[in-house]
This record gives sequence, structure tokens and C-alpha cells, in this order.
Amino acid sequence: MLAVFPASGGLGSSIVSHLLALSPQPSSSLLFVSRNPDKLTAAKGKGVTLRQADYDQPETLEGVFAGAETLCLISYPSIQIEHRFESHKRAIEAARRSGVKHVIYTSLAFAGGPESTESVAQVMQAHLRTEQYLRELQEQDDSFTFTIVREGLYSESFPIYTAFYSPSSPSRTIRIPHAPAGAGRGIAWVKRDELGEATARILLSLASATSSSEWKNRTVVLSGAREWSLAETAQLLGRLSSPPQPDLRVERVSVEEYAAQAQVQEGFAVYPGDDGGRYWAEKWANAWEAIERGETGVVTTTMREVLGREPEDFEETLKEMLAT
Ligand SMILES: NC(=O)c1ccc[n+]([C@@H]2O[C@H](COP(=O)([O-])OP(=O)(O)OC[C@H]3O[C@@H](n4cnc5c(N)ncnc54)[C@H](OP(=O)(O)O)[C@@H]3O)[C@@H](O)[C@H]2O)c1
Repeated sequence: MLAVFPASGGLGSSIVSHLLALSPQPSSSLLFVSRNPDKLTAAKGKGVTLRQADYDQPETLEGVFAGAETLCLISYPSIQIEHRFESHKRAIEAARRSGVKHVIYTSLAFAGGPESTESVAQVMQAHLRTEQYLRELQEQDDSFTFTIVREGLYSESFPIYTAFYSPSSPSRTIRIPHAPAGAGRGIAWVKRDELGEATARILLSLASATSSSEWKNRTVVLSGAREWSLAETAQLLGRLSSPPQPDLRVERVSVEEYAAQAQVQEGFAVYPGDDGGRYWAEKWANAWEAIERGETGVVTTTMREVLGREPEDFEETLKEMLAT
């Protein structure tokens, strides 16, 4: 069986829906694990196995992957380092004790190309530690294999990279600690549901005797078809805003000025802390340096090869998103 955990989030439910659509025998071959299996509505009535586990309750991970050969482990949603890495490690250890032989880990497309294992971004550190842990396990045990899929930066996550710019209530500037006027290196934006589809297709290739070796012990980067500078991103957002903001521009500010903005603090307030999000906004801000260094602008052909078509253009995804 192929297992997916956690299966109910944005990326997880996309992987689930594509696996259900593409899998030759969904009922006998799929195991979806979530802390709230009731949320797995797309999978109900399909005969697939549904189980409950929580990253933060280690006892629930014990035995929950039994019967699965391959686990697609979706990263713990956090921007902390230690707790996030330890959560992944615990889930991988429990999976191996249950007989899982291959882990496909959904990492993040900071760090540049697939061969690079370094990033200056806070948000990438737990991913890099998890990637390294998987490599070490493989070195110690030949019968264990992995695939690291660095998921590109979601087109839908543009607010995080534009100081929570809102196209329905537009401001005149995007104030971020980035290169002047948003010039220079940018982001190879990619649609989240296409990442889900590509990840599902890789999982199914891994389950097939003829194509599994192609993906074993590899790191791949799933990116959009081209890199958008943040100046180009701002121009597009300005055009699609209501009312349109043809002069929307990126203004370079310090990390402190960036983190002092009310909408930024509100955006980061979902993370633990009692300072309204400011601490995490400042911590996360080295993502801008990583973007300037080109970590998020790498374009690969893997999406096109796996999907069998060009990935959807950022502009089209944004138009769809803002129309709904
Ligand atoms: N590539 C990108 O651009 C990008 C952008 C944003 C985030 N990410 C990261 O990519 C990963 C997947 O993102 P997403 O878009 O699917 O996020 P999401 O929509 O917020 O989903 C998060 C998932 O994690 C589950 N979860 C939270 N805490 C859990 C716990 N203690 N134990 C088990 N499951 C838990 C949630 O379960 P419930 O449904 O039960 O709440 C949900 O399934 C996350 O690590 C996220 O931080 C990537």
C-alpha cells in the first residue's frame, strides 16, 4: 500500500484526490492518515483505508502505517526548526518499525537546485535536516530508499512573499526587505494542485515495478515554468487588483520595518507566541535573502515531464484564484 500522512491539508488533499483518480486499484492500495479522518471526505466510500494519527501524539504513530510499503510524508506545518524536524523523524521511525521501505518526503523549493543542501532561510532548515536524516538512513540500510520532492513555492502563497498584499483591498506599495524595487532573483511560482498531481504521479511511479528505480534515492525540485521577479509579481498583482493598482511597487525596507507592519504581524500570528506574530515575522525574514540569492528561482523540467504538459502559468492561477 501507499500511505499519505497528513492527508487532509491543502497539499495532502490534492495528492489524495489525484491518487484516487489515477490509481488503478484505489481500494486495496491506498492508506490515508490524518489527525481528523472525518475530513477525508473525498476518500470516503471508495474502500480505501483511513486511519488516525497526530504528529504531536507519538503513540498514535505506532503501527498506523502497517501494511504500507511506501509513505508520502507531508511536512509538519510550522516554521520552527527543532520541533518540526523531530516530528518528521518520529513519523519516519514509526513508519520503518511498521515495515515502510520507501519514504517520499515533501520538502520545499528553497536551497536552489536539487544538488544543493544549503539555505539561508529559516523556513528551509527543518526540511534540510529531514532530507539529511533520510540520506543517513539510506546509507545505513540498503533496503531503505527515499525520494525528496522539493515542492515549489505555491502561486497561492503570494501573500506571504508580498507582505500580505491584498488584491481586494490594495495598498500602493509592497514593503519587504528585498532587493530595491523587487529586481533581481525571484520565485518560480507553481500551482498547489499541480504539485499535488505531480507528487501523486511520482508516488504511483514508485509503486510500479517498471518505473520505481527512476525515483529512488533522488532529490527533485518541482518548479513552475519560469522565474518571476518580485517586481514582475507586483506588476501582475497590481493589474489583477480591484481597483487596479498599475503603479504598485516594491519598496525595500529593513527587517524591523517589515515586521512592524500590522498585516504582517497578523499573518504570522498563526505561529506560537504571544507577541502577535512579530517574532516569527522577523525570524522568517531571512527568506528574502534566500530569494535574492536565487534559492527559489530555479526552474526545472521535472513538472513538465511528470505531468506530461507545461505547468499552469502563474498569471492564470492568480486570475482563477482572484475570480473565486
Ligand atoms: N510549498 C509551499 O509554497 C508551501 C506553502 C505553505 C506551506 N507549505 C508547507 O507544506 C506543507 C503542506 O502544506 P499545506 O498547504 O498542505 O498546509 P495546510 O493546508 O495548512 O495543511 C496542513 C496539514 O497538516 C495537518 N496537521 C497540522 N498539525 C498536525 C499534527 N500535529 N499532526 C498531524 N497533522 C497535522 C493538518 O491537519 P488538519 O486537517 O487536521 O488540520 C493539515 O492536513 C506544510 O508543512 C506547510 O507548512 C508549503
